[in-house]
Amino acid sequence: MGMESKFIWKNGEMVPFEQATLHFLTPALHYGAAVFEGIRTYNTPKGPAIFRLGEHVKRLFDSARVLGFREFPWSFDDVMKAHKDTVRANGFNDCYVRPLIYLDGGGWNLNVDYGKPSLMIAVWEWNNYLGGDALVNGIHANISSFTRHHVNVTMTKAKIAGNYANSILAKTESERNGFQEAIMLDPQGFVAECTGENLFIVRNGVIYTPSTAPVLEGITRSSLATIAQDLGYEVKEAPISRDQLYIADEVFVCGTAAEVIGLSKIDYRQIGDGKTGPITRKIQETYHDAIRGKIAKYEAWCDLVG
Ligand SMILES: Cc1ncc(COP(=O)(O)O)c(C=O)c1O
Repeated sequence: MGMESKFIWKNGEMVPFEQATLHFLTPALHYGAAVFEGIRTYNTPKGPAIFRLGEHVKRLFDSARVLGFREFPWSFDDVMKAHKDTVRANGFNDCYVRPLIYLDGGGWNLNVDYGKPSLMIAVWEWNNYLGGDALVNGIHANISSFTRHHVNVTMTKAKIAGNYANSILAKTESERNGFQEAIMLDPQGFVAECTGENLFIVRNGVIYTPSTAPVLEGITRSSLATIAQDLGYEVKEAPISRDQLYIADEVFVCGTAAEVIGLSKIDYRQIGDGKTGPITRKIQETYHDAIRGKIAKYEAWCDLVG
């Protein structure tokens, strides 16, 4: 995967890609004391637009607040502008956008108040997070042997870098065992989310998804719930058990990186007809049009880079 670009935004300056480096003794690197976002830019008929940028920047600030950062050198508007400037400076029409606020200097005593936050924003071209074939054929996932975070152990609403050690454990295990994604159960044993995606099931025409209490409040999840309701489907938040996955008519996962991907099998059990299901396909197609600014009622989600 090529992650190269011309420029990275670093604390207010656009620096050449090679210069966006950190010292080994940066506390964020040692303790995972950083928060980040995963955002995408898509080409639309009016030019490149960042999908739901405001919601992502809001979640970035929320994550920083959850981690304990109290003061920033940048306002919400500064950070919005910085994202657009970075995409524009690099000249990409379609790209992934990765801001990271990290504990820089100080904070070695594990207290963020002794360090200061720094921000960098990178962009790169990143397609097919779960593989090119996944869109049509779906993927084979398993139930991870690792449990998702307890809500009072790591904060599930925040994209804190250190939280992702749990995702790395699960994803590495799943891929080594021949699966493409891991479904993680919460500490009570109900379905939580995947390593980087939220999850939906379809049963008898109704769409269900776990409540946001134990999982990340996914922005794709919220977009798909709106799209599904606009398409006339009922969408319910409900606890989902492992065996409800096995007997679902369709299961799909969603996230900014993965977009919308059907699950063809879970733990060697075929889901539906073993391909991306019809309701998933409809939602997937509408989402693809929405992110590219082709549907008037979702145009406000596309924040033009200008
Ligand atoms: C753990 C986890 N759950 C869900 C998601 C999906 O969130 P979003 O749709 O906002 O990308 C992500 C990706 O950010 C994630 O890392």
